Amino acid sequence: MHRTYTIELAQARDIPRIAAMSREFIEQGLGWRWGPGAVQRCVRDRATNVAVARDVDGAPAGFGIMKYGVTDAHLLLFGVAPAQRRRGIGAALLAWLEASAVTAGIELVFLEARAGNVAAREFYRSRGYRELTVLRGYYRGQEDAVRLGKDLTEK
Ligand SMILES: CC(C)(COP(=O)(O)OP(=O)(O)OC[C@H]1O[C@@H](n2cnc3c(N)ncnc32)[C@H](O)[C@@H]1OP(=O)(O)O)[C@@H](O)C(=O)NCCC(=O)NCCS
Repeated sequence: MHRTYTIELAQARDIPRIAAMSREFIEQGLGWRWGPGAVQRCVRDRATNVAVARDVDGAPAGFGIMKYGVTDAHLLLFGVAPAQRRRGIGAALLAWLEASAVTAGIELVFLEARAGNVAAREFYRSRGYRELTVLRGYYRGQEDAVRLGKDLTEK
């Protein structure tokens, strides 16, 4: 069945679900850094966009957190609920965050993904991201990360 999603800035009521998705789908085996308090600080921070893809029932099916610097932005956290993957939600969320960043004058987006996260690396590659470097032991000294980036000024 085809379902529709609305992408918009997260609201306070989304915070518990975003934190739970982070714990369940992103931070497995690494503790829980992105609890409700950390997500709430991002929602309140004017230099950080927390976006959700809302299902017809209003629940977030995916989310992304992007923090702005002067000319670059860091995609801190990004995920789609497992049952709703491969439906274009991740691509639509990322495009929304990138378009907002361009409007804010951001030229480059960078992010880190677990080196072993093949799905994420493929996803970002399909969205025009380039693998820049490997960061040894980036995750609590336990796991390597790959840093990826995308030049938003390139057409
Ligand atoms: C990575 C992730 C966000 C992708 O979300 P999604 O909504 O499934 O992505 P989309 O449906 O928009 O996929 C767009 C394209 O990315 C690529 N892609 C996505 N998932 C993939 C996978 N598991 N394997 C290979 N390619 C994949 C494909 O090219 C896909 O296009 P297609 O479906 O037409 O082949 C999702 O798998 C996820 O939440 N993973 C766990 C959390 C995570 O790894 N977050 C990112 C690191 S911080």
